[in-house]
Order: sequence, then structure tokens, then C-alpha cells
Amino acid sequence: MKRLLVLSGDGIGPEVMAQVMRVIDWMARKGRVQFDVSEGLIGGCSCDVHGVSLTDDTLAEAMAADAVLLGAVGGPRWDGLSFDKKPEQGLLRLRKAMDLFANLRPAIVFDALADAATLKLDVVKGLDLMIVRELTGGVYFGKPRGIDILSDGNRIGINTHSYSTNEIVRVARIAFDLSLKRNRKVSSVDKANVMEAGALWREEVTRIWNEEYKDKGVELSHMYADNCAMQLVRAPKQFDVIVTDNLFGDLLSDCAATLTGSLGMLPSASLGMPPEEGRRRRALYEPAHGSAPDIAGKDIANPLATLLSFAMMLRYSFDQPSDADLIERAVQRVLSGGLRTADIMQPNKAKVSTTVMGDVILRELDKLT
Ligand code: IPM
Ligand code: MG
Repeated sequence: MKRLLVLSGDGIGPEVMAQVMRVIDWMARKGRVQFDVSEGLIGGCSCDVHGVSLTDDTLAEAMAADAVLLGAVGGPRWDGLSFDKKPEQGLLRLRKAMDLFANLRPAIVFDALADAATLKLDVVKGLDLMIVRELTGGVYFGKPRGIDILSDGNRIGINTHSYSTNEIVRVARIAFDLSLKRNRKVSSVDKANVMEAGALWREEVTRIWNEEYKDKGVELSHMYADNCAMQLVRAPKQFDVIVTDNLFGDLLSDCAATLTGSLGMLPSASLGMPPEEGRRRRALYEPAHGSAPDIAGKDIANPLATLLSFAMMLRYSFDQPSDADLIERAVQRVLSGGLRTADIMQPNKAKVSTTVMGDVILRELDKLT
């Protein structure tokens, strides 16, 4: 039996997760895949109960699980907490401790939603790009960090951006390997014009490409991060796989996500080192949207990004592409049938709640099998 740890988190996390749990139950009932599911707390809800956003016990469970499915963390209720207690810290600690260095963030435009994007239809229609964001290094974790007081009484905030060869190489390989199953086109994004860490990034990505992927027909190009942001909103279909560091990946993936017309639709996977004997590759799956506290508890949030994250789990952790396909097909059929949650609502479509979206997904799954 596969061990799955579910961390619903804060805001809309629990209500979108509830719909995914129904699909997980459906999969078990149909004998397709059986999970031993346990649940834990992360983020603000963990702070409320335990005084920390991730306990050692929950972290140990995550390390032992075959996969982790996460909802979202954070909300204004916890804004006043000190930095180390903030809900986001729980997520960052989890990523770091599980060594989830490769964050895959697809930005896919669903045909039924292409006209919901703010960009012109022909700019985004058919878009299918993958951002591979380095997730355990760079300025998010670099040391020294902190806020100090200078001798003249001024305060100074310090964060450090650094990357080692090993950190660059391992995430580059993930991006190149993914590109082999796609269009064999990788764009590596950095600020090599102003940052030494960016110059090293560029050198190392080029070296790995030369040594391991050039002969396999993979095309590599480099782009400065500011230009990439501009190109993403100008002509996003020029990209296939983008590989970049933690901070640029954070920014560019939000930018790419909005090209699709709905953040509420986008899944993500965070992967650790390739499996070793007796141990699965550590992995965490979560929607790209946040906790959306303004709409939490109203049964209007879109559960599809979390559902599609579960589909990514079936694909990347459990090698069950046909079950992943099944879920993705159910989502597409619900959308082309005209049903929408509020975030993706369009003229002449039917607005449904979170729960009803779960109902119709189950109905489509029944019809498809
Ligand atoms: C993300 C989020 C996180 C990040 C926050 C919640 C810590 O923005 O996953 O993109 O900055 O990585
Ligand atoms: Mg972000």
C-alpha cells in the first residue's frame, strides 16, 4: 500500500482537499490505486495548535511517506507572527528537509479556458510550458541572513544568494531530462550579467548540456530573467522548458500561471533525488495557488489545481500515467461541458461550487470507466 501524507493547510486548502479525497476514495473503490492516507497539520493551523508551523513529528511522517499532497499555507491571521513562526516557514522547512530541489510548474492553457486569459487568444492558445524552479537553494536559504543594527544605528536586512555546482547541475539534469519527453528545448534563465551566482549557473548548465544532452538533440538557450518575464507575456509559446533558480522561478511561475487564465487550475510537483534502492524519490505535490483567505470557507474555491496535483503524483511518484490521464480527461470534459468555479467563470457558463465541482468530476470519472 502506498503511504500518502495529506497536509491540507490553511485557507481554501481543506475545502479543495476534501474534493480530492473523494477522488482518492473513488480510485480505491474502483481498485485502481489504494492509499494508506494519514493527515497532518502545516502552516497557520499548525501554529495555532502546536506553536510551530511544522512539527518534527509531521516532518518525520513526510519523510517516511511515499508522497505528500499539500493544500496551501498562510493567511492574514498569522501576519503578526515572528519570521520563524510564519506559516510559510513550515513549507520552506519541509522543502529543505525533504531535499525537494526540483519544482515542476506546468503552465497549460486548457482549450475550454483559452479566452479567459488576459492576453490575446492567439498568444496563449495551446500553450504548454514547464517551469523547473530550483527549490532548496539561492536567496531563500542562503546564509548569512537576518536583520542587524549598524554602528550608526541604521538597520540592515541581509539575505544571501548563492549556488554551488552540485545544486545547479542536479536541477539542470531534471530540466534536460524532462525536455527529452517534450520538445527538446530548454531555456535557462539567470542574471549572469550582474550576479556571479548567475554566471556560474550559466556555465554549469552549458557544461552539462555539452557533456550529456547536446548529442541527444536538446536545444539550449540562455536568457536574462528580466527579458524572460517580458518574453513570457509577449510570446510565451517560444518556450518549452524553462529552468531557473529559486527566486526567479517564484516570480516567473506566477507570471506564467496567469497566462493560462486561471491560477486555480495549475498543479505542481516538487521532487527530490532520484530513487535509491528501497527508497522512493521524495515528492510533494501542491496546487500553484495560495490559501486565498478572502474566499476560504465559502465553498467557491476551485479544487481542480489540487486534483491535477494528485494526477501529477500518480504520474511522477507512482508511474500510473493512465490514471493520471483519466483525471485530466475528466477535468477537460467538465470544463468543455461548461461548468466553472467562480475563478474561471465566463459568460454563458454555469457557475458551480467547490463541492459540486467535486460531484461532477466523480460523475465524469464514472462515465469514463
Ligand atoms: C510558492 C510560494 C512560496 C514561495 C511561499 C508561500 C513561501 O510563493 O510556492 O511559489 O515563495 O516559494
Ligand atoms: Mg510563489
